Amino acid sequence: MSLKLLHVSHIYAKDTPFEFAALKDINISIDKTEFIAIIGHTGSGKSTLVQHMNGLLLPTSGTVFIDDVDITQNKTDRFNARRKVGLVFQYAEHQLFEETIFKDIAFGPKNLKLTNEEIEMRVSEAMELVGLNYEEYKDRSPFDISGGQMRRVAIAGVLSMKPDIIILDEPTAGLDPLGKKEILNSIYQLYKTHNITVILVSHNMEEVAQMAERIIVMRQGGIIMDAAPAKVFSQAEKLEEIGLRAPDISYLMKELKKHGLDVDDKIFTLYGANEELLKLYKRGGINV
Ligand SMILES: Nc1ncnc2c1ncn2[C@@H]1O[C@H](COP(=O)(O)OP(=O)(O)OP(=O)(O)O)[C@@H](O)[C@H]1O
Ligand SMILES: [Mg+2]
Repeated sequence: MSLKLLHVSHIYAKDTPFEFAALKDINISIDKTEFIAIIGHTGSGKSTLVQHMNGLLLPTSGTVFIDDVDITQNKTDRFNARRKVGLVFQYAEHQLFEETIFKDIAFGPKNLKLTNEEIEMRVSEAMELVGLNYEEYKDRSPFDISGGQMRRVAIAGVLSMKPDIIILDEPTAGLDPLGKKEILNSIYQLYKTHNITVILVSHNMEEVAQMAERIIVMRQGGIIMDAAPAKVFSQAEKLEEIGLRAPDISYLMKELKKHGLDVDDKIFTLYGANEELLKLYKRGGINV
């Protein structure tokens, strides 16, 4: 499975007074299973970018290849692309519409003309993956459950298509801390057990630091970094310039080093910090 964006630009409302260049010469290549985060300030073009990855938006110029097929050329290729690359929208719960959770999640597989048995299997699998018990929830209305659960139904709807790549646009925005944690755990479990590439759009650096293996940083419609988290977070000043931050742990480790503790100040996860401080403690390196 490979996904390539070559010189992709997108102009909204072209040739009108409202013309706006939302993407400028974007180049991205994904050719193995990985967990990628896309970060960037509000309005930097993240949602516009991910909608190009499954052909929902077409570039004003440039090309998008999925498994070496240029999906900008014809509708059939775009239809196939949407089966391979699933997109969970920002505030995806607004797109639920069926009278039962089962019907909502079954919508995609039904369009694929699968057998009833296969549809049922896909729906129950997808529900379990997002932590919703099949028997308990399948006949309930998707409007009768919590915001976090609604979002999980929306994610299950995409998973039921068995995509090779799942893109989640701010899946935790607006949820309470428990709801956030549950969704992130499901996504991470899915990644670890299902050989699926995950692309997570997020504002939350802690979230990204915990899970991503590659981070794409956007600024004003362009990509300014595309690298491993350690490399991205070592450039905290550059992130601050564009209204972002490194994870809090990075700042804490730098502060500890400044105060004379012999710690690695490139650590950016809670787990890493925990290990590092315990090691230091065992060496007798903490004297306060
Ligand atoms: N349909 C549209 N017509 C015109 N301009 C648009 C449209 N959709 C988005 N834009 C503009 O394009 C730019 C990029 O928008 P986009 O939604 O991709 O940003 P984003 O990084 O996802 O932001 P957020 O973090 O707020 O979700 C913004 O300036 C936005 O106002
Ligand atoms: Mg957005």
